[in-house]
Amino acid sequence: MQLFLDTASITEIRTMWDIGILDGVTTNPTLVAKEGKTFKSVLREICELGVPSVSAEVVATDTDGMLREGRDLRAFHPSIYVKIPMTAAGLKATKILAGEGTRVNMTLVFSPNQALLAGKVGATYVSPFIGRLDDQGQEGLELVREIVTIYRNYHVATKVLVASVRHPMHVVDAAKIGADIATMPFAVMEKLVQHPLTDLGLARFLKDWEKVPKG
Ligand code: E4P
Repeated sequence: MQLFLDTASITEIRTMWDIGILDGVTTNPTLVAKEGKTFKSVLREICELGVPSVSAEVVATDTDGMLREGRDLRAFHPSIYVKIPMTAAGLKATKILAGEGTRVNMTLVFSPNQALLAGKVGATYVSPFIGRLDDQGQEGLELVREIVTIYRNYHVATKVLVASVRHPMHVVDAAKIGADIATMPFAVMEKLVQHPLTDLGLARFLKDWEKVPKG
């Protein structure tokens, strides 16, 4: 499963990129707003690191506006995936953009039928927001299970990008279900690395190493 960071912070992205475990980045208007920089400068910094998949979201809500922004983003850098919201206007824009060879990440997906439609119009990624469903008292991972089953039944090429991840168990379960990608905040990715028994074990090995005669 590919691991993406859900952030617009270049510091966070660089940290995981340097370790070598990062496959991509997803941004959204909320994340970009936190950085206090222009959208394009944020995107430039991320793309210049060499991250191969960088999702950048349109803010227009009509098809023409989405097409304009989507084409502009696509021309900005070859690593850009255009994020389009799951609306009727968004489906229409996705079909056109996908037909032109633009890779689209259909975002704000909360039902299996929405995912079915994203596949139908040729989205490259579909992004079910599981944490926001959990927040509403609906099991987000169940949606991922349904999408994976539907896509397998009909050999849909669209990749399932599990979004709105809140904790490491979301990542484990998404992987067990067979999702293609999970995008997560920096704090969650950090937790994938850590285990208290690893720290304890390492401390013990280093302590015991002191007893080994040197020379
Ligand atoms: C995905 O592409 C979105 O940016 C993101 O996962 C939303 O997550 P949130 O519910 O934590 O805002």
